[in-house]
Amino acid sequence: MSLTDPPSSGTLASDCLLAIESTCDETAAAVITRDGRILGECIATQEELHQQFSGVAPEIAARAHLERLMPVIDTALKQSGLSPDRLTAIAVATHPGLPGSLLVGLSTAKALAFAWKKPLVGINHVQAHIYACGIGREINVYPCIGFVVSGGHTSLYRCETAIDWELLGGTIDDAAGEAFDKVAVMLGLPFPGGPQLSQLANLGDPTAIHFPRPLLDDPKRLDFSFSGLKTAVRYRIAGTGQQDWTRVVISETERANIAAGFQQAVVDCLVGKAVLATKRSGLARICVGGGVAANRIFRQQLQTACDQHGWELFLARPELCTDNAVMGALAWERLARGETDALDLDAQPGLLRPPMKGVRP
Ligand code: KG4
Ligand code: ZN
Repeated sequence: MSLTDPPSSGTLASDCLLAIESTCDETAAAVITRDGRILGECIATQEELHQQFSGVAPEIAARAHLERLMPVIDTALKQSGLSPDRLTAIAVATHPGLPGSLLVGLSTAKALAFAWKKPLVGINHVQAHIYACGIGREINVYPCIGFVVSGGHTSLYRCETAIDWELLGGTIDDAAGEAFDKVAVMLGLPFPGGPQLSQLANLGDPTAIHFPRPLLDDPKRLDFSFSGLKTAVRYRIAGTGQQDWTRVVISETERANIAAGFQQAVVDCLVGKAVLATKRSGLARICVGGGVAANRIFRQQLQTACDQHGWELFLARPELCTDNAVMGALAWERLARGETDALDLDAQPGLLRPPMKGVRP
């Protein structure tokens, strides 16, 4: 079957949807059944395209999505063995994300929905990261404290259902993954630095260097701030007040200790605020998704904290933490309410952030 084949006629209504993900730098498609089985999946990563910039270059990301999305969808559909007429709907992440990247996914989803006469369902990428925690499990993970820790977001939500939520707090500057990536650059590691930094941290002593834990001691706030922590790492490498770390030579032990000390500071903030949010909520269940949720130390230390309090912890499987289309199964929740979107659906780029005090949204 190829995307150019017309849908065959006369088949029964099926319970599979095609989900498309293109919010940042992963181009992904998946075919998922209503009961959470993954019939086809394909992800094209763009890491090699962004490495020279040590971060995602938005225009390059959008162009790469444009080149890769149709072959990626074709691969996922072929894997599923289904023809397009068996699909119930076309789901696509429409917000938040990079404008150009979102538009490529959304226009492709609209074109397919129109050509194949299927309903279009837009989904929230951050809600999808939380939804990933329940995929492949027999139980309903809601209501819960939803915690998304990714390259763009570090946000805590009270989630009554998969799509009814309230923001409790979030980062007021960098996201945790962004801080991992930027500190990794300072330590000479390639982009995306999170996984590499955590490997380097395995060789270091997390107690050797004490970095700040911003906002952790403020019991009134469920917010995070990682920008100052990043600066503290830079000053440790280059010297207080110095900007340029690139010419500084540090020992391998110091490098590993910086990685371990930084990782521990981030994890302490993440675990501390997740515990505070859960205590306040009266709920006894946390669901954690997003790329940083793949971090081994974070997973272990959050599990220990939840065990101490007798709370349930649902972490997304590591392969479902980073961006993927399988978590687009969230669209089933909207479909169950009879919700679909019209073909004039627009993308909503940007980041979800807590409102600044005194600033109207
Ligand atoms: O969820 P994701 O794929 O994309 C966004 O929606 O942002 O998250 C990517 C982020 C990157 O910053 C990456 O460095 C970080 O997740 N990341 C990690 C680990 N694996 C991925 N950070 C720390 N430890 C990891 N093991
Ligand atoms: Zn993401």
